[in-house]
Amino acid sequence: MADPAHTTADVLVVFGITGDLAKKMTFRSLYRLEARGKLRCPIVGVALDQWSDDMLRQHARQAVEDSGEQVDDGIFARFAARLSMVTGDYGDAATYERVAKALEGHHNPVFYLEIPPSLFGRVVEGLAGVGLTARARVVVEKPFGHDLPSARELNAELRRLLGEWQILRIDHFLGKEPAMDILFLRFANSVFEPLWNRDRIRCVQITMAEDFGVEDRGGFYDPVGALRDVVQNHLLQIIGLIASEPPSTADADGLRDKRVEVFRAMPDADPAHYVRGQYDGYLDVPGVATGSETETFAALKLEIDNWRWSGVPFFIRAGKALAVRATEVRIIFKQPPRLAFGSGSPPHHDELVLRIDPDPGADLVVQVKTPGAQTTRTVDLSLVFAEELGSAPEPYERLLGDALRGDAALFTREDSVEETWRIVQPLLDAPPPVEPYTPGGWGPSGAEGLVTGFPGWRNPWLGGR
Ligand code: BG6
Repeated sequence: MADPAHTTADVLVVFGITGDLAKKMTFRSLYRLEARGKLRCPIVGVALDQWSDDMLRQHARQAVEDSGEQVDDGIFARFAARLSMVTGDYGDAATYERVAKALEGHHNPVFYLEIPPSLFGRVVEGLAGVGLTARARVVVEKPFGHDLPSARELNAELRRLLGEWQILRIDHFLGKEPAMDILFLRFANSVFEPLWNRDRIRCVQITMAEDFGVEDRGGFYDPVGALRDVVQNHLLQIIGLIASEPPSTADADGLRDKRVEVFRAMPDADPAHYVRGQYDGYLDVPGVATGSETETFAALKLEIDNWRWSGVPFFIRAGKALAVRATEVRIIFKQPPRLAFGSGSPPHHDELVLRIDPDPGADLVVQVKTPGAQTTRTVDLSLVFAEELGSAPEPYERLLGDALRGDAALFTREDSVEETWRIVQPLLDAPPPVEPYTPGGWGPSGAEGLVTGFPGWRNPWLGGR
């Protein structure tokens, strides 16, 4: 029999199909896969809700429409025909008997667990109990732990029943096309690689700014905060892509080994270089604890102690209720010396911006001669990718497609999850006090102090939008 890790799935089983994530993301992504001709198997939904197959199909249609996707009746009919429902409690052995019955004749299932992590173990145990896990892959949603010990525990719980090849941990940032563009830009061009090191780069700034607050997610967000919500996972994985060495093999572990090597080379984060903020008004959000000290903004400095990066700080800032919505990576190159043939101070730093959200694109910031003067000024050589290249698949569409095909490259491996928790753990253990900030700005003033001695925080590149 073919290697189950890479065999295309013959059925997809979604636990928690009546939940919010399915409504917002899963149906739309699966519909888009159907539209691209990439969905080839039945889909079985599992949940406690007593939904008939027809109710599931109606709900799916509504969810796809509400997501803003144009629905084509023919494509939707093909998609709907794949859907069926199994109702049951995850704690009840009979539920798994029913799932096994629904899967009769199928040998390579993908189980997608859109359920709280506290239920992962129970569900996998239930599936193993009815003999469904031997050739299965299991896709799990974040959060994967809330600190290093809990991440280890969760890994150990899953690994009791599954091999690492079977566990696909989602970090949806890795499914973003512009995140993958980082690797292509770096390694498919010979102009960048010689510059990509401590000899040429002064620092790297990563900004993930959101111009909205916590809104109706207070209950989820308050025990989590910005560091756990987006830094430990999404933004560290982005560092893995910016800073890794080129992989030597095309398989999933080729790429993942290189990312984890970067994490291993990163010393534990230092709370002295960590700034936390909370926007004014956060305490009034429903679900937020009275007097909560949860951060809605985090800025920090990280280092990579290896030959390529030693001495180049990676500054991260991420926050809610900031001035704009934009996620970008900005490579700031070293400043040139003063020009003997020019007047005035040395030219500015050159910068390369890779915009991840929204409207992915790249902007090379270079210096040119000011017309009619012997000085320099800054110009942008920029491209919004969609204008030139057309639209790309969405993150969940890409990741679910990969899970069905058996390509694990864009899922996070056990070692990388544990390393990233290890890096941020000191910040969880000794967090500095939260500083208040006004919504609509750039977070607390303390964040400015973090970059002292280096180029100041740049406002994100908003060109082409
Ligand atoms: C999620 C976080 O993982 O990522 C949210 O829980 C955040 O707080 C979201 O808003 C951002 O993802 P995207 O793809 O919308 O930029």
